[in-house]
Amino acid sequence: AASDPDLVERARAAKARLGDRVFVLGHHYQRDEVIQFADVTGDSFKLARDAAARPEAEYIVFCGVHFMAESADILTSDAQRVVLPDLAAGCSMADMATGEQVAEAWDVLTEAGVAADTVPVTYMNSSADIKAFTGRHGGTVCTSSNARRALEWAFAQRPEGAGRVLFLPDQHLGRNTAVRDLGMSLDDCVVYNPHRPNGGLTADQLRNARMILWRGHCSVHGRFSLDSVNEVRARIPGVQVLVHPECKHEVVSAADHVGSTEHIIRMLDAAPAGSKWAIGTELNLVRRLADRYAPEGKEIVFLDRTVCFCSTMNRIDLPHLVWALESLADGRVVNRIQVDTETERYAKVALERMLALP
Ligand code: 13P
Ligand code: SF4
Repeated sequence: AASDPDLVERARAAKARLGDRVFVLGHHYQRDEVIQFADVTGDSFKLARDAAARPEAEYIVFCGVHFMAESADILTSDAQRVVLPDLAAGCSMADMATGEQVAEAWDVLTEAGVAADTVPVTYMNSSADIKAFTGRHGGTVCTSSNARRALEWAFAQRPEGAGRVLFLPDQHLGRNTAVRDLGMSLDDCVVYNPHRPNGGLTADQLRNARMILWRGHCSVHGRFSLDSVNEVRARIPGVQVLVHPECKHEVVSAADHVGSTEHIIRMLDAAPAGSKWAIGTELNLVRRLADRYAPEGKEIVFLDRTVCFCSTMNRIDLPHLVWALESLADGRVVNRIQVDTETERYAKVALERMLALP
């Protein structure tokens, strides 16, 4: 849909008033009306790095979700203010692991005698609390673009064959990376359910596991099924299926390619004219890519028949962005995301470990 011309003009004017004092980051899942004002766009890894590389910007306006804005606050200086245009832009997956639940899980692992051999790895899609837990216990953050390297790093922290990973909070990214990239079997993975006593696992199961996967998932990517893959293959002969690693293992196994949002864009960019693609990730991005590459003769469709936006990403709309920019231009800092000092200290350790991965 076309953006309201009045709001577009107001966003432009407010950005111009702020000049270099503001830097706008936009995640690939943002609406078109918002992404047009982003100074950079990217996946969550690229945006974390880009935020850290802008020390001169007084304000970072994060068009994305809460955990991304927290990470930007952790990686920028205290003088810089990070603003999330709508505070209700959370992430249901990140909410599936609370600090309290993870502390309790660590007690369960300690009781079973496995905590000392376990390295926590948390997906970027987690609260600053969980990142701080990870940093405190010798672990690292990862994103969908470096999960393999993060797991290799984690296993290298313990003697060969002795270590295991507690992977938070996305069971699918954890499982897909362990099986596809590290060659583990599904039996090497167990799922820790925070809503059941002892995670629903025996001490033996914990001891024998190489991957303890937190029972979290993305509700957007969870909608894709094996049926979606079979259906699109029948409908579009020769189609290549390209999905995000937050999809279920059976979907990822049936796909031709798997990768982060940035990887998906790179693949489509390099694809030859006449190629056909079905993409399993958020709909704002897929629609934009379909429009961008149609003139080059690349046919790009959404993997599922149903509409599949990330509702929290979509919370950031043009009215919220205009409000945030105009407020900043008027000297009012609204919707600031500020992680407390103690949490920040350890979360930063885990984030910096990720940024230092080879
Ligand atoms: P990436 O941008 O890292 O691929 O992650 C997708 C996502 O779900 C962000 O919330
Ligand atoms: Fe969270 Fe999924 Fe939305 Fe990403 S797409 S922000 S993981 S709910």
